Amino acid sequence: MRYTTSALLVAAPLVAATASSKRGLCVVSTETTSDDAIWTNNTDLTWYYNYAAVPTPDYKNKLNFVPMLWGAPEDPANDMTFYNTVSNLVSEGQNITYVLGFNEPDGCTGGYGGSCVSAATAAQVWKKQMEPLKRDFGIKLGAPAVTGATTGFNWLQNFFTECAALVNSSDTASNTTSCEVDFIPAHWYGNFEGLASHLGQLNSTYENISAIWVTEFACADCSLEDSQTFANQSFEYLDRIPYMQKYSYFGAFRSSVSNVGPNAAFLTEKGKLTDIGAMYLNKASTGAVPHGSASTVAKFAGWSGLVAATIFWSIL
Ligand SMILES: *[C@@H]1O[C@H](CO)[C@@H](O)[C@H](O)[C@H]1NC(C)=O
Ligand SMILES: *[C@@H]1O[C@H](CO)[C@@H](O)[C@H](O)[C@H]1NC(C)=O
Ligand SMILES: *[C@@H]1O[C@H](CO)[C@@H](O)[C@H](O)[C@H]1NC(C)=O
Ligand SMILES: *[C@@H]1O[C@H](CO)[C@@H](O)[C@H](O)[C@H]1NC(C)=O
Ligand SMILES: *[C@@H]1O[C@H](CO)[C@@H](O)[C@H](O)[C@H]1NC(C)=O
Ligand SMILES: *[C@@H]1O[C@H](CO)[C@@H](O)[C@H](O)[C@H]1NC(C)=O
Ligand SMILES: *[C@@H]1O[C@H](CO)[C@@H](O)[C@H](O)[C@H]1NC(C)=O
Repeated sequence: MRYTTSALLVAAPLVAATASSKRGLCVVSTETTSDDAIWTNNTDLTWYYNYAAVPTPDYKNKLNFVPMLWGAPEDPANDMTFYNTVSNLVSEGQNITYVLGFNEPDGCTGGYGGSCVSAATAAQVWKKQMEPLKRDFGIKLGAPAVTGATTGFNWLQNFFTECAALVNSSDTASNTTSCEVDFIPAHWYGNFEGLASHLGQLNSTYENISAIWVTEFACADCSLEDSQTFANQSFEYLDRIPYMQKYSYFGAFRSSVSNVGPNAAFLTEKGKLTDIGAMYLNKASTGAVPHGSASTVAKFAGWSGLVAATIFWSIL
């Protein structure tokens, strides 16, 4: 189910945003490689992830890479591929400070980018491969990035329950009471009030995890005006709230390949920065209007069409 915002007040004029060290890039497979320099050439962007364990060549040594363990391996009890891959990056001298675990594990509908992992399997893999990365290299661990839907919220709660259940299990070497997590990545597709409410709920639920990232967000399939208002309000909000450590908007692609609607994109169909793209990169508005076919559910990693429609928490 998709939640689309209705028009919010009157359009606010777009003004170039201030620089933000929190902003990063969510690199999707439908991105046009010849656009890569836009993100790395004289921008304030500091980091990126690409849903994979290894860097994207064009960004290597330009933006700080955050590896992701996208889904569960076939042999979760024994597989060490992700651990070994990240360990090799560290040996090569790459600065790996953070890793992300599981992309939308609660997403089991084909074509939406979810990795469909059970909470029990995820907990097992966490103990096997993620916690050793922290123990051996001091890498900070991002919790599984669930969808913004209620099912996602519940999945994360189940994950921590499963982690606790492993304590007395003989197949784990760990005796901690839960899985170690340093920050919680969130996804959100909807309006600004929904985003703020969702983050408020996460912040209050996981009060012993002091940092939150938003690794995918946009006003999906919204009008240009609503999309711009959403970007304006959310960038400013995420820059301001102290618990927000990093964020990456879902839009580093051309409007013609966007599966969240053309108006969310950073680039027009010809690869020119839109006003939203310019705002994110702290550059002057371009006035370039994105065009593209209607949103299609493309089969690539990293998009959730699911959002929570319920407002749980008041905006602070
Ligand atoms: C959002 O719009 C307001 C009102 O025009 C403006 O003052 C502010 O700088 C804008 N924020 C961003 C992040 O562009
Ligand atoms: C990179 O930035 C420089 C200086 O701002 C500019 O002259 C050049 O055209 C840019 N190159 C690309 C590929 O964007
Ligand atoms: C490694 O990257 C982090 C940010 O992810 C940064 O704070 C730190 O200074 C970097 N360290 C080195 C040695 O470049
Ligand atoms: C582990 O075992 C102890 C002692 O039997 C018990 O008190 C505790 O509740 C168990 N913990 C879990 C998570 O099952
Ligand atoms: C339990 O955890 C503590 C603290 O990390 C550690 O010192 C101890 O060796 C662990 N015990 C077992 C049986 O693994
Ligand atoms: C957070 O604290 C609660 C209550 O002390 C605990 O049950 C939970 O396991 C902790 N979560 C993490 C991720 O440490
Ligand atoms: C986040 O949670 C902490 C701990 O519960 C609380 O002190 C803080 O006010 C919350 N921050 C926001 C912006 O909601």
